[in-house]
Amino acid sequence: MKLERREFLKTSLLAGAAAVIAPKAAFSQAAESKIEILINEPIGTINPDIYGHFVEHLGGVVYDGLWVGENSKIRNYNGIRADLVDSLKKIKPGVIRYPGGCFADQYDWRDGIGAREKRPTRVNFWADTTYKAPENYKKLEGGPQKYESNYFGTDEFARFCKLVGAPVYLAANVRTRDARVFQEWLDYCNAPAGTTTWAKEREKNGFREPHKVEYWGIGNESWGCGGDFLPEEYAVEFRKFTAWNPTYGVKLKFIGAGPNGGDVNWTRRFFQKLTEKGSGQLNKLYGWALHYYSGSTGKQIANDFDVNDWYDLIQRSDRMESLIEDHWQVMGEFDRERKIKLSVDEWGAWHWQDPDMPDGFLYAYASTLRDALITGLNLDTFQRHADKVNMANPAQLVNTIHSLYIAHEDKTVETPNYHVFEMYMPHSGATALRTEFISPKVAFSRFDAQKKETKASIWGLNGSASINGKTVTLTAVNPDHANARETEINLNGAKIVSASARVLSSTNLKARNTFAQPNALVPRNESVTVGAGGKLVYKFAPASVTRLTLQIA
Ligand code: AHR
Repeated sequence: MKLERREFLKTSLLAGAAAVIAPKAAFSQAAESKIEILINEPIGTINPDIYGHFVEHLGGVVYDGLWVGENSKIRNYNGIRADLVDSLKKIKPGVIRYPGGCFADQYDWRDGIGAREKRPTRVNFWADTTYKAPENYKKLEGGPQKYESNYFGTDEFARFCKLVGAPVYLAANVRTRDARVFQEWLDYCNAPAGTTTWAKEREKNGFREPHKVEYWGIGNESWGCGGDFLPEEYAVEFRKFTAWNPTYGVKLKFIGAGPNGGDVNWTRRFFQKLTEKGSGQLNKLYGWALHYYSGSTGKQIANDFDVNDWYDLIQRSDRMESLIEDHWQVMGEFDRERKIKLSVDEWGAWHWQDPDMPDGFLYAYASTLRDALITGLNLDTFQRHADKVNMANPAQLVNTIHSLYIAHEDKTVETPNYHVFEMYMPHSGATALRTEFISPKVAFSRFDAQKKETKASIWGLNGSASINGKTVTLTAVNPDHANARETEINLNGAKIVSASARVLSSTNLKARNTFAQPNALVPRNESVTVGAGGKLVYKFAPASVTRLTLQIA
């Protein structure tokens, strides 16, 4: 019955809104669009870990980004950048993943504990990364991606997570270390005070109480940098690494190294092999990692794109929805009880390094409004699939790829991505509601290397809604770079008594926050008038991410 009702809504409303509009056409007529929040159709609780993060020893993420050192003039908590801690705390982060990424499968956690001056220096996984930058861009010659000092390790990371109030998520090395090294890491982190030799070692290093780490990734991208495994081979490793580990009273949550984007074969073949030993093996999996980067478009530079590149990248990012659905379907062939969820522990757009970023800050750039819309649409996607996704972590927290911060010396800047996370906070832990977005599509062109044009289009409005008590939070992305979307909002079965809005938008599509202008793009609050009988018509700004807070009777 519910489905039929949704289908009805979609077809009847689409009939009046099927027009595709050209990007530049002026288009604004009363309530051209409609949002139906189906308040009686809960999807599931939005796991706070959907607002997770990721810290890898890569470029400027750890050194200079997070770790400034205890003797630094930069304000710090035990060597950790204080401005970043204070800011991140405000957005109540979910689980934080560490130490990689590809770095994890070349890392020995034992190198990163104890007296810092005695820790060994190793070559970093990213040492030989060549940077295919245009000629006028700086080469990545020095920098922490070459040599790893190990000044920041397990204890420093656990302290950082404690400071910001986030659960710890550690990724084990499956490529170059064995299951014993992994078991010892578990022991070091979780064995009760004064028990094992590793627990005593931890105490010697200043941490008497265990870190109580629940989340453990078994390798990373095991189809690639994590070992070049076949899915069947990786399934055997997964079984071995997760077999008979002491729990030390902690509920261990293992995350399997899942597919690269749409590779459903990796998913199917892994589950087939895993369950050859019986379906009980499925109980070991808390999450199946999915990684998807939408890449870049145009000149591959964060703030160098035209209008078509704008839409192209937003649409590529939107692929997240079908990836979740496709892998979920395959997982269901094995996990009939639907206990295992997807952990999207790497996602984001991915541009080249900005020319003005310090040397060695591999893949560091200041994200723009376009990236902020991509953040909004991904978070909305995860929320629409709250029944399938238990964790999501943009890559990465600071100074690399789709980051929430750029930081250097004494400057810590919140990127537009950060502001979207802040705006979406009320969804965390709330109940996701089935919601229909009906809006005219937006047309654009895609050009291949030979400049051959293909016509394309993208939805005119999309988002998600959740409920917490009498508060409904609706978040939406309007990708149209030039046109606002006048939208009628209905809360099927409930009356809106008041509403307010928070909006991130700019007439400059390339707007962003830099070291020189840290607050060039920040959200603004708007008051919203609710009409007689609870009627709400709201105009979503062009090129915007919006949060509407609706109080219901
Ligand atoms: O986030 C950067 C890298 O991208 C990670 O190390 C790896 O897992 C992925 O390919």
